[in-house]
Amino acid sequence: MSFAATADAVHVRAPGKINVYLGVGDRHEDGYHALATVFQAVSLYEDVIARHADEFTLTVSGVDDTAAVPLDDRNLAMRAAKLLASATDHRGGVALEIRKSVPVAGGMGGGSADAAAALVACDALWGTGLSSARLHELAARLGADVPFALHGGTAVGTGRGDQLNPALARGRFDWVLVTSDRGLSTPAVYQRLDALRAEEGALADDPPLSLDVPIPVLQALRSGDPVLLAAALHNDLQPAALHERPELADAIEEGIRAGALGGIVSGSGPTVALLCDGPESAQDVQSTLRLSGSDPLHVHGAVPGARIIP
Ligand code: C5P
Repeated sequence: MSFAATADAVHVRAPGKINVYLGVGDRHEDGYHALATVFQAVSLYEDVIARHADEFTLTVSGVDDTAAVPLDDRNLAMRAAKLLASATDHRGGVALEIRKSVPVAGGMGGGSADAAAALVACDALWGTGLSSARLHELAARLGADVPFALHGGTAVGTGRGDQLNPALARGRFDWVLVTSDRGLSTPAVYQRLDALRAEEGALADDPPLSLDVPIPVLQALRSGDPVLLAAALHNDLQPAALHERPELADAIEEGIRAGALGGIVSGSGPTVALLCDGPESAQDVQSTLRLSGSDPLHVHGAVPGARIIP
């Protein structure tokens, strides 16, 4: 029997992400949009501890107010544990403990990281030993960003964002994150984008959206040069997020005035990710922004995906 199968508890850590490029195509009948995106996993982690139990239970704690996080089947980690149990005919439950560091409803894939971590933790605790291909398949059924939280690093996502190919990224990228007190609903931001596009469509008859990650984004990642990557940052969801929270545009501008090379809304927001020219520059940006009352975080990428912590 493996160590993991005999352990009383399994601790897994999974990263949050930034979309350094996010191109959104048309909405499909299932409600999902076609995406061409580049994810980068960053050093802000969700910790999930799984313990043997007869029932499925969940506790959540974290740096943010976690009152908004559901503890029932609406929680993606709970759904992940139950999906794995039914896919492997596992009898019995699990007591999951989530320690959150990724902002809740912040556009950084915190819930997806919880789900990825829960899959890996339960797989090890129960000794179900699924292949990574099978784990990826279950992850994709849970949510579009869950496969990336398993995978980590830097990757191109197509389809709904769940079809992944690793992207070559050299060196390390330093980011300063400006978080918000109130989260944004991802479906609401996608709906806003559809509404904004419908309004624009009445004025301009645009050609169909081309959905490829632009070459300069991939070149910038390969070069490891944050100046090149800053120039290539792009998020199609940003106008929709700014429509909901106009003050995010000020946060990006303020970050650039403080010395960041560029800034972007992360995913569906409201977290703003500011790309900096190395660790020292990021610390300077962080200190300057603190003077105006915010409490930004300094993280770096790329980091690995969901991993068991010995
Ligand atoms: O898959 P996930 O639960 O992360 O997606 C949350 C919501 O974001 C979906 O219900 C959908 O409204 C929107 N979404 C989308 N197209 C994608 C990914 C997410 O419209 N490719």
